[in-house]
Amino acid sequence: MSGFQNKIKQVARDTDKYLHQLFKNQNVKSYLLKPMKYSLFSGGKGFRSKIIVDTGKIFNIDYNLLKALSAAVECVHSYSLIHDDLPCMDDDDTRRGKFSTHKKFGESTAILTGNSLLALAFEILSDKKLKIKNKIKTELIHSLAICSGYSGMAGGQYLDLNFEYKKVNKLQLMEMQYKKTGNLFSFCCSSSAIIKEKKLSIKKDLSQIGLQIGLLYQIIDDLIDFGGDSSKVGKPTKRDIKRGKATLISLLGYNNSLEFAESLKNKLINKIKKYGRKSCDLLESLEYIVQREI
Ligand code: IPE
Ligand code: IPE
Ligand code: MG
Ligand code: MG
Ligand code: MG
Repeated sequence: MSGFQNKIKQVARDTDKYLHQLFKNQNVKSYLLKPMKYSLFSGGKGFRSKIIVDTGKIFNIDYNLLKALSAAVECVHSYSLIHDDLPCMDDDDTRRGKFSTHKKFGESTAILTGNSLLALAFEILSDKKLKIKNKIKTELIHSLAICSGYSGMAGGQYLDLNFEYKKVNKLQLMEMQYKKTGNLFSFCCSSSAIIKEKKLSIKKDLSQIGLQIGLLYQIIDDLIDFGGDSSKVGKPTKRDIKRGKATLISLLGYNNSLEFAESLKNKLINKIKKYGRKSCDLLESLEYIVQREI
């Protein structure tokens, strides 16, 4: 296994451990805990957590704090996937090589599980045990709320569904990708700058970097959907064409989309390099995005 693979696996394990501990410490009985754990601990790559740890390194953030941020973000991410797979959205039966949550537990339970995971993210960030100033905590919570809701991920998912079988231009497509996927990455990249109370221009620069990392990540996900093997990817492939999804591939074709991704990556390298030698892990993660096959 490559050095990068070891690092991302370690980060994913640490985030899972944090969440396992959280579940162990709570003593409320709820059936929803079962599907929540089913979708959280089902072998996601943990790539958003890795980006949090990479930017945390640039700003020397305590690893325990990064684990809490990662746990919160993976909760939002898992919620988004549960809802994304529902029959009223992408209608996909498998996720991470297993039944999607609604296939395993039923639709209403899947919806409530997603809601519960979104709420859990804010429970984690507002926890008294998180040793940061209240002012910073509030800014983190506010930022994650903006990135997740109508102006962020949920808004982007609306556009994704609304654009099915429609002709959309590049600007509309970019807006959708930035919102549905970019925004959560934006939080991953800017949260460390929030914690270190950096000036607004730095927070904005990192948000922007995150948005573009998310865009790149989604373009590659769309390329994998187009040409990937579902048994390797762990979710159905060739679904975007079938569902008339607006993607960069439907607009520009496969090869042009690959070229677009390569040039986006190179622009990002220049932006990230400004943060000095401690940005090496973030640069390595960027390389992984374009080389990944699952
Ligand atoms: C899938 O994300 C959804 C996208 C926004 C592309 P990932 O590919 O990171 O999903 P997991 O967590 O590894 O399953
Ligand atoms: C999902 O995009 C983006 C989300 C915010 C959930 P996709 O619909 O392409 O994700 P997959 O391919 O089902 O993982
Ligand atoms: Mg979708
Ligand atoms: Mg989908
Ligand atoms: Mg996809």
